[in-house]
Amino acid sequence: DWTMEDYMKTSIRAIREKVGDGKVLLALSGGVDSSVCAALLAEAIGKQLTCVFVDHGLMRKDEGDEVESIFAQRSANFIRVDAETRFLIRLAGVDEPERKRKIIGEEFIRVFEEEARKIGAVDFLAQGTIYPDVIESGAGDAAVIKSHHNVGGLPDYVDFKEIIEPLRLLFKDEVRQLGRELGLPEYLVMRQPFPGPGLAIRVIGDLTKEKLDTLREADFIFRDEIARAGLDKGINQYFAVLTNTRSVGVMGDGRTYDYTLALRGVTTSDFMTADWARIPYEVLDRVSVRIVNEVAGINRIVYDITSKPPATIEWE
Ligand code: XMP
Repeated sequence: DWTMEDYMKTSIRAIREKVGDGKVLLALSGGVDSSVCAALLAEAIGKQLTCVFVDHGLMRKDEGDEVESIFAQRSANFIRVDAETRFLIRLAGVDEPERKRKIIGEEFIRVFEEEARKIGAVDFLAQGTIYPDVIESGAGDAAVIKSHHNVGGLPDYVDFKEIIEPLRLLFKDEVRQLGRELGLPEYLVMRQPFPGPGLAIRVIGDLTKEKLDTLREADFIFRDEIARAGLDKGINQYFAVLTNTRSVGVMGDGRTYDYTLALRGVTTSDFMTADWARIPYEVLDRVSVRIVNEVAGINRIVYDITSKPPATIEWE
């Protein structure tokens, strides 16, 4: 009969024993797994840990600053790399989803590699791999529908001796519990899944900073209203997508020709299949009115009522 507190203490001891006086490098994405991994390692080995947070500029509103404010305190060696411009330059004019993913994956490795080189040789590379990832990667050659770029997998590019994966035996809800035990804020511990390529695959077609900013504002309002309505625990993933379609509208006494924003919400247990969330009309209405009034460049809102399959959760 063990508690998460016991587990935390045991793994802190195990990490200290394994690491000795060695140096550990971790790529921190701000997602639940890498955050809990970082907090655990910071607790266990303090200054021997270096966290590198590659900010690709494709995060949701305020997310980069939130990650920084949490980990700049907890981890003595926390590095945030502002790489927005270089990602946007490489992504300019690219509209094909798999190419976006490929470019982001490559650029991420490049940036991380540059930072790792500055740090020099480390003894361990830490990854927030959790038990379901372990099972999944053993699953073999299931058809690749979307190449999932995860911030974790970079062993070949960094000079290190060994990988450590302190969450390897935990399921997602246990990882969240461990995060709470470590004192991470609830919003971080309960964060919904967010794809590695970030908002780049939620702006359909080619990206600009302006489109990303528009999407960030709209997505923030959607999430805010879902939380206000108390629906955030019941819907497993919800977000906005900036479609590439513009349509005619009328606002005040003028004609508009602006983008259509799609809202997506799903309920699912494993993200392999999903049902579209039955969000009450009144909530959808509030979201729609607010977004069109508060976010320039959007004049029409639609709600995605397809399940997975046949659709996927993301649009790209
Ligand atoms: P789809 O769209 O394939 O998404 O139904 C299933 C789940 O995976 C997430 N997703 C990704 N996660 N890198 C990630 O780390 C990716 O490239 C990626 N694409 C999709 C998606 O948000 C959903 O939770």
